[in-house]
Amino acid sequence: MWLSKGVKKPIFSLHLFLTLCLPISSVWATEPSPARQTELLNLLKNDCGACHGLTLQGGMGPALLPESLAGKPDELLVTTILEGRKGAAMPPWKPFMTRDEVVWLVGVLRGGKR
Ligand code: HEC
Repeated sequence: MWLSKGVKKPIFSLHLFLTLCLPISSVWATEPSPARQTELLNLLKNDCGACHGLTLQGGMGPALLPESLAGKPDELLVTTILEGRKGAAMPPWKPFMTRDEVVWLVGVLRGGKR
């Protein structure tokens, strides 16, 4: 009996604050968190690289190098990555990443960071 009284102290308030605020702030941010950036870069190398070549110089899929993408609008590339290309081997990545993350990835592909 005396034990259960002690448990009711509001010691969880900081935890509650963080669990409420962290997801909200990640919706506002357009840039993925550093941990998520690492995940996305690994995915780019392993999953995208399986078809586009490990160094993205092209394979079964076309090259994704800055010079190959130069003439292509962001919207086309973002939609291709999110939705895939019907009738081609390019799969949709919508289940695995958000539009903001795809926009960031396209920036990476354009040579912004890598
Ligand atoms: C199963 C093979 C495969 C995988 C995996 C794959 N792609 Fe593709 N991708 C293709 C093919 C094939 C095309 C060309 C589609 C066409 O002919 O229109 C393509 C096209 C594209 C294009 C359009 C290029 C252009 O020049 O118009 C982009 C951008 C792209 N892929 C990015 C990605 C990214 C980013 C990933 C990983 C998240 C990925 N792809 C994973 C096969 C793949």
